[in-house]
Amino acid sequence: MRVTDTSDLWWKNAVIYCLDIETFCDSDGDGVGDFAGAAQRLDYLAELGITCIWLMPFYPSPQRDDGYDIVDFYGVDGRLGSLGDLVEFIRTAKDRGMRVIADLVVNHTSDQHPWFTQARSSKDNPYRDFYVWRSDPPPDTSSEVVFPDKENSIWSKDRKTGEWYLHRFYSHQPDLNVSNPIVRDEIAKAMGFWLELGLSGFRVDAVPFFLETKGIDHQAGDPHDYLRNLRRFLSRRTGDAVLLGEVNLPYEQQVEFFGDAADELNMQFDFVTMQQMYLSLARGDARALARTLADRPSIDPDSQWATFVRNHDELTLDKLLDSERQEVFDAFGPEKNMQVYGRGLKRRLPPMLGGDPQRIRMVYSLLFSLPGTPVLFYGEEIGMGENLAAEGRLAVRTPMQWTDEDSAGFSSAPPDKLVAPLVEGDFGPGQVNVVAARRDPSSLLSFMGILIRRYRECPELGWGTFSLIDTPNPAVLAHRCDWEENSLFIFHNFAAEPAEVSVKLNDGDVPSGGGILTDLLEDTRTEIQPGETLTVELPAYGYRWLRIQVPGAGRPW
Ligand code: GLC
Repeated sequence: MRVTDTSDLWWKNAVIYCLDIETFCDSDGDGVGDFAGAAQRLDYLAELGITCIWLMPFYPSPQRDDGYDIVDFYGVDGRLGSLGDLVEFIRTAKDRGMRVIADLVVNHTSDQHPWFTQARSSKDNPYRDFYVWRSDPPPDTSSEVVFPDKENSIWSKDRKTGEWYLHRFYSHQPDLNVSNPIVRDEIAKAMGFWLELGLSGFRVDAVPFFLETKGIDHQAGDPHDYLRNLRRFLSRRTGDAVLLGEVNLPYEQQVEFFGDAADELNMQFDFVTMQQMYLSLARGDARALARTLADRPSIDPDSQWATFVRNHDELTLDKLLDSERQEVFDAFGPEKNMQVYGRGLKRRLPPMLGGDPQRIRMVYSLLFSLPGTPVLFYGEEIGMGENLAAEGRLAVRTPMQWTDEDSAGFSSAPPDKLVAPLVEGDFGPGQVNVVAARRDPSSLLSFMGILIRRYRECPELGWGTFSLIDTPNPAVLAHRCDWEENSLFIFHNFAAEPAEVSVKLNDGDVPSGGGILTDLLEDTRTEIQPGETLTVELPAYGYRWLRIQVPGAGRPW
């Protein structure tokens, strides 16, 4: 095995699992999940095939934005355990072959953070310049707010000093002034602290807002220089740590955050592909997604897209045209209480697809076969639903469903004492839970295990070159991923009718003496000869992953 190549870029084909300690597993019966509880579930995650856990914020917080409002960058919210419990969690995860990354939320702090308490106390307080202030009344910024149901300006007037502070999110989350070198030092110090405790990097919250220097009077320099500096700092401290950034921008602007020399964010969520996938699903027509994938900018081999079906926030459809978004709303979230902020859905996939197991599997087959690194949001692997009665984004942040017991095996506390309401009805713990899914070889969980194993066995997916294959059937997305000597041919049928597609293979796709065609999900093998056309039959919402290889050589599958 060569050691000088780049096979240590672990994030290129990781399987990332996002969880919130608060809602994952409660070990002490107080109704709130904790590190000790989550540590008991690490074997479950390892067995599923997860290679990296992304922890949502676990820091001390008044919880006005579910922990994204932080009062201490160096602590653990006492309800979830101690720093010691966190370290045990990280150590146990590593022992099971999993890395841990965590949210780095440094665009803002909570307004209860001691820095802000100081900063707002007087105009000449030494912490004043940790935040962004203006003395003249702000213009109308109502179109720029992120949470239009709660805010109508990105500036709020602070009574004591009569000046306005910047907050891109809620008014209780004042934006840090990242042009201040002392703030930059503080951010780096916090990162260094968590790296020392064993984290393998960060999911960087709200990157464009964090780097933005709008409203800051003095010259702050190029924000990309700052991001490069942070990346250099990270790599100096922990060579293989990553920055996985939340950058929901059109591709042209988004790619800049990878850096020209792949020296900024290692990975970025692919919000654009995610949204077009839903449009294609709604239409039963793969072309919207295909067009987007064709336009997806190529990136440096060291960088990576993170693909996902949904995350912990609203399922945002903000990059679709109004009419397209309406199509997705009509198909998957027609009721007003299913929508949020006028741009997104509060729902998880299985209820949106009416629980259709074949269609749900098709979407996850797609997730694991699109080029990139897949990111799962806890509970997706068993097909959890949402609780629409919960406010806004909290609808999908319900307790993990381990068993069919009253509190879902999440906690021994009664349901009305849990930190978040459970899902009710068809997608609640009575019907959907880990224990039942583990016993059932035909469950979504079992299928997810197969997908994860195949994904990890197919370096073509994380590492390879992606290209679309032309098919005359608009319902079918056909693509191939090539890496070193191997090629995968992958097909997804977005329609409710069966489809058949024929693919003319290139010279060299089939070995001159004939090849073996393996169906990686069905585990069947047939022979294929050069010059033969590859004909693929797909049932309604069908999917197939095929590999052609030299008989007797290379991989056994
Ligand atoms: C990001 C997070 C979101 C949070 C916001 C403010 O968008 O994903 O959950 O509310 O930042 O921190």
